[in-house]
Amino acid sequence: IGRNFIYVDEVDSTNSLLLNGKEFTQNGTVVLAEHQTKGRGRKNREWYSNSGQNLTFSILINEYINPKLINILSLGSAVVVAQSIENLFQLNVEVKWPNDVLINRKKVCGILTESTSKGNVINKIVVGIGINVNQPNFPGKFEIAPTSIRKEFKSEVSRERLLSELLNNFEEMFKEASEKPKNVLNDWRSRCKMIGEKIKVVEDDKTKFGVFDDIDDDGFLILKIGDKKEKIHFGDVSLR
Ligand code: BTN
Repeated sequence: IGRNFIYVDEVDSTNSLLLNGKEFTQNGTVVLAEHQTKGRGRKNREWYSNSGQNLTFSILINEYINPKLINILSLGSAVVVAQSIENLFQLNVEVKWPNDVLINRKKVCGILTESTSKGNVINKIVVGIGINVNQPNFPGKFEIAPTSIRKEFKSEVSRERLLSELLNNFEEMFKEASEKPKNVLNDWRSRCKMIGEKIKVVEDDKTKFGVFDDIDDDGFLILKIGDKKEKIHFGDVSLR
């Protein structure tokens, strides 16, 4: 992972570049941009990140793909980010379903995993990771309050050190995800503080209330409503 590393000053979106670019063929290729003009988040949202202060990059996976890998890699990537921040800065980091990373309940990282298929077969998975590293403030309105490592660590930090820690940990996780996906799910569970809590889930047009029971083997959220259990594939989760 990251042995083929491409650094660009400016691009619309590192995810789009890897998804559309035919020239990127090597598994584990990483594209990092100093600035994205059309950084994308989940649900067609925008991902805005100050140029030069944060990390916005994407990782190409085109080997060992199976249909379940997309979700496992998404959850696993959040674990990798949490673990890396914790290793370097001793901050207390948690993951939030489906793939956010929080410090002190504020969002420090978002992950957007996308794929392309040929016929019915997925041939490419792109994991896009945006981490607020040294951004000092966040003007505007947000669904979840944002923060950066610098704000929580109370000092500027090295993006290079964080990136190399991340890519090393990602490599380990990728191996685990293809061989023992259950371990990745368990790592995620142990970093999620919302399991067992009362939550609100907003799907496209529906809002549901229940208890965050668990995630299943595919990484979907199991919501307990009364004594019924319902599977949630997509949605925004908040505590209530
Ligand atoms: C989210 O929280 O909704 C996901 C945000 C994902 C942002 C990253 S930044 C690098 C990569 N390129 C994109 O356009 N998006 C992802």
